Amino acid sequence: MTEKATLTIDDRSYEFDMFTGAENERCIDITHLRKETGCITMDPGYGNTGSCYSSITYVDGAKGILRYRGYPIEELAQKAGFVEVCYLILHGELPTARQLADFRAEIAGHAALHENLKIHFSGLPHSAPPMALLSAMLNLVSCFHPEVLEVVAEGEEFERTAALLLSKVRTIAAFSYRMAYGKPFIHPNPNLSYCANFLHMMFSEPYQEYVASPVIEKALNLFLVLHADHEQNCSTSTVRVVGSSRANLFSSVSAGVSALWGPLHGGANAAVIKMLEEIKSSGQPIDHYLDMAKDKNNNVRLMGFGHRVYKNFDPRSVILKKRVYEVLDELQQEDPLLDIALELEEKTLKDDYFVSRNLYPNVDFYSGILLRAIGIPINMYTVMFAIGRMPGWIANWRELLEHKQRISRPRQIYTGSTTREFVELRDRG
Ligand code: SDX
Repeated sequence: MTEKATLTIDDRSYEFDMFTGAENERCIDITHLRKETGCITMDPGYGNTGSCYSSITYVDGAKGILRYRGYPIEELAQKAGFVEVCYLILHGELPTARQLADFRAEIAGHAALHENLKIHFSGLPHSAPPMALLSAMLNLVSCFHPEVLEVVAEGEEFERTAALLLSKVRTIAAFSYRMAYGKPFIHPNPNLSYCANFLHMMFSEPYQEYVASPVIEKALNLFLVLHADHEQNCSTSTVRVVGSSRANLFSSVSAGVSALWGPLHGGANAAVIKMLEEIKSSGQPIDHYLDMAKDKNNNVRLMGFGHRVYKNFDPRSVILKKRVYEVLDELQQEDPLLDIALELEEKTLKDDYFVSRNLYPNVDFYSGILLRAIGIPINMYTVMFAIGRMPGWIANWRELLEHKQRISRPRQIYTGSTTREFVELRDRG
């Protein structure tokens, strides 16, 4: 028997169906609210609004739980490779050895970019933001593969399109780095793993092959696994909104890249490092920065802290914090920013402003330090987040089509001028 919610407006009661999800989350289905009551809901930022039913990722913000298709992030981080996690997120099940080998081969086979695409890199200033390049190039790549412009969410066509996108996003990222530093493009090597091939395209030289150490390759793999999906965050919701108009996958994820760019979302990983570097160079005590973040008179936030959903530790931050130590130790590197980050975290845990608002380190707080250890430059940090999130974006795009989701078109409450007559220019004074 379907549970009901009752809403009373102007002494009249209305009933709406309720739905309980796999993890006992409950929702009120207001699909027919406006038709029945003439009212809409208002929820700026959608903090209380569900946009879809999804079986891809589950986050419990109170308990600090994150699972991809039911598998805890802690296990996947420990035991799974990024391509394996991509397969899981896209298909809903972990791959067999044969399925994984075929998927890897499919991705490896799509790594190269069309020669004509490369001229678009050379026409850009070296200072071009890599996120701008990524968003643009994702649409441009589809011009060289007209078959991906078809909106197909199943079968071999979809599998090929997904593999092509997972592969090319990595090449575009590496090429944008090479262009920014005036270096020649390094072609992909299909014999290398996903992460090793990316690092090869980033750091090899024409006559000097870069061979990633197992520590570095494993650290990059972990970074990508931790970023692979995260329910209906800002960028994934953007991919769904664009995809809901039945725009193709490449244009939908291109929009997702733009949404991810913002410092409140994926841009935070770079903003954290800039904040830590400023703390280090300013000579100011850390409390000075905490006070600024607490002072409502300025627009300063403690980057890498807080989360719309996690009101406990972000499990990804816990994993990254542990791994950063290990990677720096294995590489025999020291990073003074890590010490500052640890002190910052420690102080917030004792500060009522942060504790009372459940502001804990999120995925972006330690991820930049890991990327520094790997040797990725700061202007590429959010690009790395986009590479990691690609499987989640693709899976959500596909799911909305599988569910035949209507085009997204929120309502509004108008607060502007009511009707008035046009005034001729001569009469306006
Ligand atoms: C990601 O959604 C996802 O899943 C995102 C993500 C993913 O995997 O896709 O997890 C990745 O984007 C992580 C978040 C990265 N962004 C940052 O680190 C930027 C800093 N954080 C904040 O801007 C903020 O915490 C957000 C954007 C993450 C969340 O914003 P909300 O949910 O809208 O929270 P809010 O702005 O309503 O803040 C509630 C209160 C406010 O104070 P009061 O009005 O109650 O007095 O907390 C304060 C805020 O001022 N606050 C902060 C703060 N974050 C919130 N104060 C200081 N520093 C901060 N970082």
